[in-house]
Amino acid sequence: MLIKIKRRGEIGPAETTPRELFLDRRRFLRLGAGSVVTAAALSSGLWRPALADVKLPNVTKGPFTARDELTPYESVTSYNNFYEFGTDKEDPARLAGSLKPRPWRVVIDGEVTKPGSFDIDELIRPHALQERVYRLRCVEAWSMVIPWVGFPLADLLKRFQPTSRAKYVRFEALHDPRQFPGQRRAVLSWPYVEGLRIDEAMHPLTILAVGLYGEVLPNQNGAPLRLVVPWKYGFKSIKSIVKISLVEQMPLNTWARSAPNEYGFYANVNPLVDHPRWSQAKERRIGDFFKRETAMFNGYADQVASLYTGMDLRKFF
Ligand code: MTE
Repeated sequence: MLIKIKRRGEIGPAETTPRELFLDRRRFLRLGAGSVVTAAALSSGLWRPALADVKLPNVTKGPFTARDELTPYESVTSYNNFYEFGTDKEDPARLAGSLKPRPWRVVIDGEVTKPGSFDIDELIRPHALQERVYRLRCVEAWSMVIPWVGFPLADLLKRFQPTSRAKYVRFEALHDPRQFPGQRRAVLSWPYVEGLRIDEAMHPLTILAVGLYGEVLPNQNGAPLRLVVPWKYGFKSIKSIVKISLVEQMPLNTWARSAPNEYGFYANVNPLVDHPRWSQAKERRIGDFFKRETAMFNGYADQVASLYTGMDLRKFF
């Protein structure tokens, strides 16, 4: 996450390919490689084995949609942070084929009245899917604008009835070195863990994403289920979630465990609080040449500043 900031032009040729051509080529390559997609598979669920670029059905426009220009699909899906695949930005797209996002189970446990283990499609089914365009600001001072498809995390949590002792939500990603080659090395402590305070988790901006650009979430972006918290640095948006626990104590998130003086629990986008090794005042929108000012709470201050009233944001970074 903290290793190298790519400059414009280093993203790779896919970015300049017109989207339809790019998709057609991918479909052709996949189908040509011998994938068999049966009618049953096509009607069975949200995800189809060999076709990550399948349209999600019944997606409506959601609230809080940013008007910023979208980052091209090819950049969103080829320039990623996903250490389970490797530490380079190109590793996730290159290696993501080893992740099998179906079948997939998600455990909901801890301080809830109705804990359980659920098939991902069963878990998602009750939720109406929305498209929300959010800015994603990485701690490395680059940003993207991504049309996510998902639903409010609050809606899911309420279904399981958190108890009064539920003060935080802890998220855990899959730990399986056979599917995640990056987990064969101890670059981070596995599994990747993240956490939110319960009011942050219940905030209407916080979503669980199952897709982007109207299509099923590509593996490199965190299939089949990831968190998106747009006012926080990107590392809070944990990918490939297998466990959601309602807990009483503040969870120790992976990056805070790995470098506590550099990454905190809150990780709110804050141009006034620098990273110990670089400024957070500006960012480079992927595809742009010039940097732009970083906005407080990534531009979502009107919605979320009140969550932190009275808190010293230098201390609680
Ligand atoms: N989730 C997991 N499981 N593993 C990771 O390494 N990286 C985080 C976050 N979620 C990461 C993760 C970081 S640092 C960022 S910036 C975002 O994912 C990047 O999301 P994107 O690749 O979809 O843009």
